[in-house]
Amino acid sequence: MADQPFRFEDGASYEKMMGRWSRIIGATFLDWLAPRSGLQWADVGCGNGAFTELVVERFAPTAITAIDPSEGQLKFARARPGTKGATYVQGDAMALPLADASVDAAVMALVIFFVPEPARGVAEMARVLKPGGLAAAYAWDIFGGGFPMEPIQAELSALGFQPVRPPRADASRVDALQKLWRDAGFVDLEAREISATRTFADFEDYWTTNLLSNSIAAAVAGLDRATIAQLKERVRDKLTGGADGLITSTSRANAIKGRKPV
Ligand SMILES: C[S@@+](CC[C@H](N)C(=O)[O-])C[C@H]1O[C@@H](n2cnc3c(N)ncnc32)[C@H](O)[C@@H]1O
Repeated sequence: MADQPFRFEDGASYEKMMGRWSRIIGATFLDWLAPRSGLQWADVGCGNGAFTELVVERFAPTAITAIDPSEGQLKFARARPGTKGATYVQGDAMALPLADASVDAAVMALVIFFVPEPARGVAEMARVLKPGGLAAAYAWDIFGGGFPMEPIQAELSALGFQPVRPPRADASRVDALQKLWRDAGFVDLEAREISATRTFADFEDYWTTNLLSNSIAAAVAGLDRATIAQLKERVRDKLTGGADGLITSTSRANAIKGRKPV
């Protein structure tokens, strides 16, 4: 399971805070993968089903097994009308509850930096893929400033607080992803950056939405009221609101894809 600041137990909060990002960036990622319809999929670390839903809507899988350790996330996912037909299973990326060579596509959307041993997770994707199958992932570019909560993280750092990062943040680097894919034996590797833009109604919407992130909430919970007020002002100054007050926020991820040799 993920380390404490990155627990994912509330599928509804996740939807507001991250699920919307996931759908925006996931759409570009899936365009890039351009898979055939009617495949058998494994969605590893499916969370509350935000990305699973995109796959179902766009590529009509014959089967999709969506796996996550968090029952809270899975409960929300199972209630999603858009993923009827998906099989949600509680499980871990490092021991996938799937038979060898049983799926055509295995994906990790915003997950690899939470897997305690990323190489074991990627090896598991290789095990469950059929020869020729597609293995793909994307992860926020943590060290390149791509994390959606980066404006808050940066101001926390400027005030002298350590940024809270996913436990295996190193795996988000593009060279780390390429090495993981090569070491797992995948071929035809391609990598790219994907960026996404999301709009918030106003600064309060931006702030309260991002405080639904356990990592940001944990950092802010340790501050006194004056420091929180200072932090908010600094973040507000950094974000450009339009004349209509809308706040536009941009994030960026590194993505990788490859195939299991035939
Ligand atoms: C940021 S969410 C991504 C969810 C979904 N894929 C999406 O794009 O919205 C990360 C998910 O990884 C899951 N996770 C954490 N550790 C995991 C592990 N060892 N194996 C599989 N999933 C894990 C968490 O429970 C959480 O639901």
